[in-house]
Amino acid sequence: MIWLIITVSTSYHNEKSAVKRYHPKRLVKGQPEKYYKKMNELIELIKSAEYVTCFTGAGVSTFSGIRDFRGQNGLYNDPDADKIFDLNYFMHDPSFYYRKSKNFIYVLDQKSPGIVHKMLAGLEHDGYLKAIITQNIDLLHQKAGSKNVIEVHGSPMKHHCLSCGSEWGYEDIAVIVQRDETPKCDKCGGIIKPDITFFGESLPAEAIDEAFNLAAKSDLMLVLGSSLVVQPAASIPLQTVRAGGKIVIVNNMSTPLDSHAWKLFPDLESFSRELQV
Ligand SMILES: NC(=O)c1ccc[n+]([C@@H]2O[C@H](COP(=O)([O-])OP(=O)(O)OC[C@H]3O[C@@H](n4cnc5c(N)ncnc54)[C@H](O)[C@@H]3O)[C@@H](O)[C@H]2O)c1
Ligand SMILES: [Zn+2]
Repeated sequence: MIWLIITVSTSYHNEKSAVKRYHPKRLVKGQPEKYYKKMNELIELIKSAEYVTCFTGAGVSTFSGIRDFRGQNGLYNDPDADKIFDLNYFMHDPSFYYRKSKNFIYVLDQKSPGIVHKMLAGLEHDGYLKAIITQNIDLLHQKAGSKNVIEVHGSPMKHHCLSCGSEWGYEDIAVIVQRDETPKCDKCGGIIKPDITFFGESLPAEAIDEAFNLAAKSDLMLVLGSSLVVQPAASIPLQTVRAGGKIVIVNNMSTPLDSHAWKLFPDLESFSRELQV
């Protein structure tokens, strides 16, 4: 069994990805020569690689108005935010998660994909990207038109009673949460929990197995918008490195895997624009 822990140390699928139309000699607008060279090398590798995958974190959804955890305006700047997805705390007081998630999880139906989601959907549509492994629980890759999405931290689309196993859909629970109430099982009075993986809980076995298998198969993995400190998910890109593949990390803060990266890019927006335009 693998547990979730932290280590310190509308469809857009018709959009063409830039890789197909990218002119290798084109200068990347407003970027120094060095950046242009780096981007061109990446584009060439995407074109020649056999199996390209992507690993995403909360940073890619900040363009959709969803706060990440550890970024500059991340949720972890708020006091007590670390308790929101803590299983022990949830069992002690489920109302805390529902109150804190009212304007986070239970408004996700109103959110739209951002520039990174659209770029990745375009890459998959054009045949360059095989799969997205995401830690995100916001369903925005699917909304952008990506087909092969592996959710390693679950999703709030389903909720279950922890006592009798009864199931509810996102909409049923969202209505209750928006009334500022805490949902409770109407069959047995048990606690209802979203199928999101909380800290202290095991990850969905099938998804995590598939993610590690895909990582081992990848000759290139794009690692986008993750602090790479939540385990075991953060070890997925490392599997690519161990199997002889390359990883490219795009993040505006350093990560524990930076020394393993073939290339590092600091900014998700310009990176996605270059792969998209
Ligand atoms: N959108 C969501 O679904 C969501 C939101 C918050 C938390 N979570 C959950 O919490 C865990 C948090 O781990 P994580 O690593 O995914 O998120 P994280 O918050 O720990 O890391 C996100 C990283 O993205 C970087 N970033 C943000 N905007 C950027 C930009 N424009 N350019 C470059 N970098 C940028 C941040 O600096 C940060 O290092 C995940 O496992 C996930 O399950 C999900
Ligand atoms: Zn029940």
